[in-house]
Amino acid sequence: MATVLSVSGSPSPASRTARLLRHLDRRLTAQGHDVIPLDVRTIPAEALLGADFRHPAIVEAAELFDRADGVVIGTPVYKAAYSGLLKSLLDLLPQHALADKTVLPLATGGSTAHVLAIDYALRPVLSSMGAAHIVQGWFTLDQEITVADDGTLTVAPGTGESLAQVVDQFSHALGSRTALLAAAG
Ligand SMILES: Cc1cc2nc3c(=O)[nH]c(=O)nc-3n(C[C@H](O)[C@H](O)[C@H](O)COP(=O)(O)O)c2cc1C
Repeated sequence: MATVLSVSGSPSPASRTARLLRHLDRRLTAQGHDVIPLDVRTIPAEALLGADFRHPAIVEAAELFDRADGVVIGTPVYKAAYSGLLKSLLDLLPQHALADKTVLPLATGGSTAHVLAIDYALRPVLSSMGAAHIVQGWFTLDQEITVADDGTLTVAPGTGESLAQVVDQFSHALGSRTALLAAAG
């Protein structure tokens, strides 16, 4: 079906955002998509902070964006917005790195006060990068994500259903777009 790049923008080594994305990746894979995970924290800091556009890890990340039909962007809410780590990568990508792509924005945060951070902070950045279609996103409270000692992730029941719904909408939008592009030749 489609190639999906699933990007976690958390700097935390035990990130709930990253674990949530990997959990949702499995749903997309089961629906037939080819999912490529990308944890921005694995990109060398000197490349991100030194704005080294030619660093092999930045070139590789840009190629992954280029190849993708759809992109899942997941970030923890930091200071009422997305993480600086996520922005440090987005700033090094071509201006229209999201052109022709369907995008699913996701966030995790500690307070419902910032439930709209996806809409007022992340969405404008994704639009400026040319995203063709930004589907409905979802903000998940960190306390609704539980990680067991063996790494198994559990999401609070209502939230799990809402997440499944936005992932399915993204998957559906991807299918429609891929069919349209194929028809256009
Ligand atoms: C530096 C820092 C700033 C944060 N700022 C906010 C905030 O403004 N609003 C909020 O809802 N949560 C905030 N949080 C909580 C995180 O967004 C939340 O715990 C998130 O799930 C962490 O995701 P991670 O485990 O993937 O890093 C902050 C956490 C940190 C470490």
